[in-house]
Amino acid sequence: MRIDIITVLPELLKSPFEASILKRAIEKGLVEVHFHNLRDYTTNNYKTIDDYQFGGGAGMVMMIEPIDKCISKLKAERTYDEVVYMTPDGERLNQQVANSLSLKGNIIILCGHYKGVDQRVRDHFITKEISIGDYVLSGGELGAAVLCDAVIRLIPGVLNDETSALTDSFQDNLLAPPVYTRPADYKGWKVPEILLSGNFPKIEKWREEKAFEHTKNRRPDLLEE
Ligand code: ADE
Repeated sequence: MRIDIITVLPELLKSPFEASILKRAIEKGLVEVHFHNLRDYTTNNYKTIDDYQFGGGAGMVMMIEPIDKCISKLKAERTYDEVVYMTPDGERLNQQVANSLSLKGNIIILCGHYKGVDQRVRDHFITKEISIGDYVLSGGELGAAVLCDAVIRLIPGVLNDETSALTDSFQDNLLAPPVYTRPADYKGWKVPEILLSGNFPKIEKWREEKAFEHTKNRRPDLLEE
């Protein structure tokens, strides 16, 4: 998989890819992540990427030309399966959206700023709009980092134990059951007996029951879906 991220703040985005699972995925060659500074695609001396909105009103709008130049250059080099725009009015990111994006070959992610991008960018270049939640961030960069993390960990081979992504919360519309590690007794707080029993069918059943109970208590909406 190849991810090209278009941003005015590449420095804000780089560190999540320089540690832990994302770093290892890149080192293993399972994903390539490239950053493109939108200011490199401006034609004016001041490298401005935004302008006042037509019709008046507060807030700047990201101009179409530098975005067109950047996306068109990338598209001339290879084909893309999806051009994603990070925006609070996009489709809400969830595990299904992450699963489906993890199956794509090449994707572009455009990070918005200010009042957003000129609508013509959305009409003519964007194939998918994603929000990471019902709140407004200063820009799409942190959302793009969240999206990339959720997607990249699902690429086969990225996690050491491939089954561990399958038992994540949300994979079956269920939250994950509780987990424990040593010591089995800490200050009298004991690990459930069943987990020490070695009876794996019973342990599996216990985990399913706990996952269901936890989902019912905390996110009943997931069970209704
Ligand atoms: N840009 C600003 N707010 C955002 C959000 N909630 N999700 C994705 N991109 C955003």
